[in-house]
Amino acid sequence: MQINRHYEDLTESYLFSTIAHKVSAFQQAHPEADIIRLGIGDVTRPHAPAVIRALHDAVDDQGRQETLHGYGPEQGYDFLKQAVQKYYGDRKIELEADEIFISDGAKSDLGNILDLFSSDNTVLVPDPVYPVYVDTNLMAGRKIVYVSATEDNGFLPLPDVRQHADIIYMCSPNNPTGAVYDRAGLTAWVNYANEQGAVILFDAAYECFISEPDLPRSIFEIEGAKTCSIEFCSFSKMAGFTGTRCGWTIVPKALAEGKLHAMWLRRQTTKFNGVPYIVQKAAAAVFTPEGMAEIQHTLDYYRENARVLSETLDELGIWYTGGKNSPYLWLKCPNGMDSWTFFDYLLEEAHVVGTPGEGFGANGKDFFRLTAFGDQERTREAAERLRCLLRK
Ligand SMILES: Cc1ncc(COP(=O)(O)O)c(C=O)c1O
Repeated sequence: MQINRHYEDLTESYLFSTIAHKVSAFQQAHPEADIIRLGIGDVTRPHAPAVIRALHDAVDDQGRQETLHGYGPEQGYDFLKQAVQKYYGDRKIELEADEIFISDGAKSDLGNILDLFSSDNTVLVPDPVYPVYVDTNLMAGRKIVYVSATEDNGFLPLPDVRQHADIIYMCSPNNPTGAVYDRAGLTAWVNYANEQGAVILFDAAYECFISEPDLPRSIFEIEGAKTCSIEFCSFSKMAGFTGTRCGWTIVPKALAEGKLHAMWLRRQTTKFNGVPYIVQKAAAAVFTPEGMAEIQHTLDYYRENARVLSETLDELGIWYTGGKNSPYLWLKCPNGMDSWTFFDYLLEEAHVVGTPGEGFGANGKDFFRLTAFGDQERTREAAERLRCLLRK
């Protein structure tokens, strides 16, 4: 037996374990300290009532002979694919229902999609980055070329036509930087990908946070995208499904003359048996008028947190991206501190926890991520502490 040696190329991520260790050591030394965590990328608000009702009804369906659902279609039930199709159609993005594949979340499919590509491909990945893109390619032994996202380009790098690429990862609104591409930026990438014969793997997991109407929420809003892009999206942040698990992946038939669509269908029907009926019913409830209104209410709750944090950084004159159209704020560490020094400083002096940018790539060394997924009152309190500490 030969094991996949490429796993040896993975570097252990100590980011969240180091954070947890530092926080618990600090709490032990200072039991009275009231620590506020603004590091988490997970939701904290409960599911919408419409989703909970649908879950209960679907559970009851499974308890009755006449409505029991066994194996479903691997690609998802029509009722959910059609609801996703309408979600895009309402924004004038025309998709065929069978171009939509229901998944158990964006993370799995972002990794699984690599089954379709040769390991000889050159992959472009931004730095800093959601680490899943890097590790899934390292596991397959693919060559990664980093695209530098920096303060100078507002953490929104544009393509360099001299650089060859086969696979391009994009995430907008971005985790960790919160930066969002405008139409011109996405158009530049789509044109480049079409010229290169490359595919863009577009991660739209945070599209629901975009509220400015001119900013694209899908790569398919861009002309030419259907011949070069696959989009991944998720109910996780949109409707609090991080623990319930559901998402979707769009593989257009115009891509590679339909080859990738046919291959993905084959891959999914071979290696995947679909998302639970109960979960798909809950996901479909998100798209009902009540569901949509209720999730907006929750998204507004998080948006308010992002606004409070943005306002604080504005007042303090600290440079940052995100905070608008995104649940993440990516700030430049003040007073020349690097990200781990700033982490310790913030923990010790303000009892506030964030995420050091270095954990997302070398370009994150002097930056720091705050998230808007916390409790509103606690976020306000954290903002006040930042104000007091950094105003000095
Ligand atoms: C950029 C990005 N993509 C995908 C995911 C994973 O989403 P899901 O819960 O749908 O697997 C996350 C989760 O934090 C993320 O930040």
